[in-house]
This record gives sequence, C-alpha cells and structure tokens, in this order.
Amino acid sequence: MSFDLVFFGGTGDLTWRKLMPALFQAFRHGKLPPAGRILAVARDDQTDEQYRAWLRTRFQDVELAKRPSDEEFAAFAGMLHYRRLDLSQPDHYVRLKEWLGERDADTVVLYLATSPYLFPQICEQLGVVGLNGPKIRVVLEKPLGHDLASAQEINRVVRSVFKEEQAFRIDHYLGKPSVQNLMALRFGNVLFEPLWRRESIANVQITIAEDFGVGTRGDFYDKTGALRDMIQNHALQLLTMVAMEPPSRNDADAIRDEKLKVLRSLKPFTDESVARDVVRGQYRAGNAQGKKAAGYLEEAKVPPGSATETFVAIRTEVQNWRWASVPFYLRTGKRLASREAQIVVNFRATPHNIFPGVNQPNKLVINLQPEDGLELHLLAAKGTGQHENLSPVSLDLDFDKAFAENRVGAYERLLLEAIAGRLNLFVRSDEQEQAWRWVEPVLNAWERDTTGPRPYAAGTWGPAAASALVARDGYAWSEEQ
Ligand code: BG6
Repeated sequence: MSFDLVFFGGTGDLTWRKLMPALFQAFRHGKLPPAGRILAVARDDQTDEQYRAWLRTRFQDVELAKRPSDEEFAAFAGMLHYRRLDLSQPDHYVRLKEWLGERDADTVVLYLATSPYLFPQICEQLGVVGLNGPKIRVVLEKPLGHDLASAQEINRVVRSVFKEEQAFRIDHYLGKPSVQNLMALRFGNVLFEPLWRRESIANVQITIAEDFGVGTRGDFYDKTGALRDMIQNHALQLLTMVAMEPPSRNDADAIRDEKLKVLRSLKPFTDESVARDVVRGQYRAGNAQGKKAAGYLEEAKVPPGSATETFVAIRTEVQNWRWASVPFYLRTGKRLASREAQIVVNFRATPHNIFPGVNQPNKLVINLQPEDGLELHLLAAKGTGQHENLSPVSLDLDFDKAFAENRVGAYERLLLEAIAGRLNLFVRSDEQEQAWRWVEPVLNAWERDTTGPRPYAAGTWGPAAASALVARDGYAWSEEQ
C-alpha cells in the first residue's frame, strides 16, 4: 500500500517533538508501509535538504533511545520532503494537489498540526481544490475548539468538506498502550466483567499528574487552563473507557456509540454542584524535582493576576444502572508531586470481615505513566497461627517488560492507525461535542465566580480542598491510602 502523509505545521513544535519522532520509530520498527512519502508544509521557504538538515538537529532534543543514528536518519530522510505553503494562498493548495497527483498514492493522510483556529480555513481550501476524495483522511490535532460553539463550528466546516469517516480526531491518550490493555482486560477476559459495576466498585479515580510547569507555553496555556487542556479530552476519554458497556463489535462506531452513551450519562453540572464538586487550583512557588520552582504567575508569558487554573479535581457520577451513585473522581494538574497518570478502581470492602484489624479493599491500578502496567492489590496471609495476619500484596503486570519488543508509543500507534484507516482510536464529532457540553457549565460558573483558583505549592498534590472532595465520601486519593 502506498501512502502520502502531509504535515501542515511542518516546522511546528508538535511536528518535530512528537510526530516526526513517532514516525521515525514506526520506520525503525519496520511498521511504516514501504511505499510512503512524508511531506512537511509550512510558511518558510526551504528545500528538502534544508528541511532534513533542520529536522536532524531537532532530533538532538528527543530522548536518547528515540534518536536516529546517522545511517538511520539518512534512510528515513529519503521519505521526507518539504514544500512552502502559505495557508491563505489558494494556489498553494493547487500546488499541493499537483505534488500529490505526481504518483496518486493509495492513501493520503493530511495531518493538521497547526493551531485549530486555522482548521476551517485549511479544510475549506482543501475542499475547493478537491483534496477531499475517498482516498483522503484528515487528522485533527487537539485542542478542537475552545468551547462547545467553537467545536461545533470546526466540525461544521470539516463535515462540509469531508465525510465523518474521513475525519481522524486525535486524543493521544487513546493511543497509550495501557488504554488498549484496559479494553483487552475488560472485553477479552471474563474475570472482571461480573465485578465491573456498582455492587463491587466503590469509586474510580483518574489522575493525570505532571510535575513540570507550563514552561514556554504560558501564552497558550493561559487561554486554555487545565479543564480544557486535560479534562475535556484526555481524562474524559479515559473515563469512557472505564465506564462504557461492552461494544457489540470491535469496530469504530460500535465503540464510539458506547463511549458517547457514557458521556451523555455524566451527571450534569449546576452552579451549586460546580461549587461543591469541582476544585480549581493554581500553583505557587515551591519545590519540584528537588529544585526551587516558580509559581504560575511568575512563568514567562503568563499575564499578571491570571485566574487560569493549573489544577482541577472533579467528582462526578455516571447516571445509569451499572454505575449509579459510584463516584468518579478526575484530577489533573501541573507542578504536582510527581508525573504519573493512572486509573484506580477501588473495590468495596468484604461484606463480613473475619480478619480483625485488617480493612484494605482490593484495588486495580492501571498505570499509564511513567511506566505502563497493571497492578491488582490483594490481601494475603503473612505469618502463621495466632500471629497470622493479612498483608497487602500486588500482582504486577509490567507491560513494558512483558512486551518490550512490541511496545508502540501513542503517536506512533495513532499515525499507523490513521494510515491504515482504522478509526477505533479516534474521537467522533458527537463525542467531542458532548464532552464540551458537559464541561461548559463549569467554565461558565468559574467566569461568574471571582474568587478564582485556590493556590497550591509547586511539588504538592494540589489544594487541600481536593482531598476534602474525596474525604467527604469517606475515601482518599490513591497516594493518601
Ligand atoms: C497535552 C497537553 O494534550 O497533553 C499538555 O496539552 C500535556 O499540557 C500533555 O502536558 C500530556 O501528555 P502526556 O502524553 O505527556 O501525558
């Protein structure tokens, strides 16, 4: 199968930081279909050779294991091309079409790695020159909109040019290996399904914690905030994977229909419930990774007095028979105590305890970051006779080790899926709009509430109110258990 892959925003951060390294890994692993061309387009004027040389230097900033040797880069660069494209110039799209027409590949993937404000303009122009035929797929990078109205507007334009099945909306969390393993665990095994419900599960906690701050992205981040940046997409996608009903088939729409039902079942917010069930925070100076760290307001390009949240914790419920009244806690933040992303499923305590003094319910931990794996926490007997007591043990599945040979990073997987035309791991427009519909009342309530975010010291787990949110139900966050 021949393919052409075009990156709009070919000199941008996302392209050199994530997309090119991921493609290079796919190339190194022999997973890229051989007859492929990769074309970066951007506004600068440069030749293929200049672009390749520039990209080569950019790879120095990529983690060591993912850097190509000179020979590997030379081989990879053979697929790489560059063309100048000014997005506002209609004839530049004509030239792109000519370039693609030179060999008429089986599949053309157009990856919009630009600011989302440009999506409508790019899609319209692609439609005008007829770059929307059945061989074409368009990949849209997040953030897809700023709120429901802007997301709907982007989707309207995309749909006026492409069919839904041509649109690949990226949420890179869906490409993470652990998310695939969660699907496998739930729908490829019989073990957990009978327990996967309110009768056995006390609460679910989804944490995406980062120990770094906003770095050089202060201007982008300040307009975005943690709710838009992480909850509306990544955390909610993880929630749908935990809470969805088993799909009838392993196909994109069967899966996405079930995920959409979960999003529609989330408890809607009111002003009172935002005040009660949502905690927003902003980091202040503190210690992170053993060093002094500046507060959010001291970061470059953050406007003075900004009220943008860098932390959010939410308590919600999935209002259906399986999950009624089981709390789902979502939490994310910058400059927290450590970098870890995990889903913790806390089971209920045994109904009758014959081991006095021991009260530790089972839990299943799905680790997404820094390593991916799965831990099942159980109690086992320790000691003998009258000194017998129970102690926690965990069954660990270290996927990184078990499947070391076949580990595929999130972007690598998603790029390969887009080239192969499989939509299972991409977000459908109705899911994305429903997620906006759910978070929007929170954004609106915050706009009216001038008290602003609660401060927390860099290097901690966020404002104390986040612990209180969970403690109110008689539970604790995983690191406090
Ligand atoms: C991005 C957010 O979508 O995800 C970033 O814009 C965040 O703010 C990143 O740091 C986290 O991704 P990962 O895969 O490193 O957890």
